[in-house]
Amino acid sequence: MTGAVRDVAAAPWAGLARFPLAVGPTPLVRAPRLEAALGLGPTLVKRDDLIGFGVAGNKTRPLEFLIGAALAQGARVFVTGGGPGSNFCAAAAMAARAAGLACELHVWGDPRSANLALATAAGATLVPTGGTVREQVDEQIAARVTQLGDGAYGVPRGGSTPLGAVGFAAGAAELAAQLDALQVRPGLIALPVGSGGSVAGLLAGLAAVGLDVPVLGVSVSRPLEEIRAKVDDLAAGCAALLGTAAPDPAQLTMVDARGPGFGSATDRERRHAREALWAEGLLLDETYGAEAFSAVVDLVDRPAGPVLWWHTGGLLPAFGSILKGPA
Ligand SMILES: Cc1ncc(COP(=O)(O)O)c(C=O)c1O
Repeated sequence: MTGAVRDVAAAPWAGLARFPLAVGPTPLVRAPRLEAALGLGPTLVKRDDLIGFGVAGNKTRPLEFLIGAALAQGARVFVTGGGPGSNFCAAAAMAARAAGLACELHVWGDPRSANLALATAAGATLVPTGGTVREQVDEQIAARVTQLGDGAYGVPRGGSTPLGAVGFAAGAAELAAQLDALQVRPGLIALPVGSGGSVAGLLAGLAAVGLDVPVLGVSVSRPLEEIRAKVDDLAAGCAALLGTAAPDPAQLTMVDARGPGFGSATDRERRHAREALWAEGLLLDETYGAEAFSAVVDLVDRPAGPVLWWHTGGLLPAFGSILKGPA
């Protein structure tokens, strides 16, 4: 394996500009009460919900490198965007402010949401596209960056670029070191997939550290063929950027968990989220956490080793789910 990659100074991302945000490593814990409550086998939880920067969850990881690149370029404005429920928008607003950058967020849909309220409170300027089409956001970001020139650093929605994915590649190395210390090897790693940067970086990072564990990506917003192509491209792009081993696409299986639609969980997913809250005090949102955790509960082929579920955060929307009342 891979000692060199796990050595922080020798890691392939060590030469990239990075603005520290996370308080890591995030905990890796067993969930015995949840295992008992739902009749699960050994279940490990990687607690990116406790990542230690705002309520930014997994999106803290890409932002360390994206904000790092913006500062290295000498930019003054971080330009990005998303939809009303975007955790990335709130995280980007806080991260930009912490780095002394202004933040401009291009947003589709109804901008009245907890995450966009937090983004505004953190000093970001919201620029509504006036439409309901996600793709419009990226076009608007690109046009704005062209207009502002070098003073602006632009990032598409979700921060899912090869450079952003480096954040999760570093997360994979963080996890590998924790697993080594515990002398545990999971049989599966499961996580939610939105714009794809997190799972892509995870695959690139697992290849870089030589950890050949199957990954289950739970798609919450896009049809499988669309998101799969994007994830494979991002994973390959991330590895190419780092000069590390090419990820093996066969390591990844994806399931479609869009159910009643982006941002809404089924009753079953909401019940599983309630069990996670009651058994372990874990807060799951309806868009990402409840879907991904439910896929873990409903696994048809349970692997021989423990299942590692990556809790990616989504804390602010999780409060919204709770306010909706019992599942
Ligand atoms: C809480 C949470 N989990 C998972 C994801 C999915 O990450 P990605 O967009 O990198 O696929 C997101 C995306 O915003 C998120 O906010």
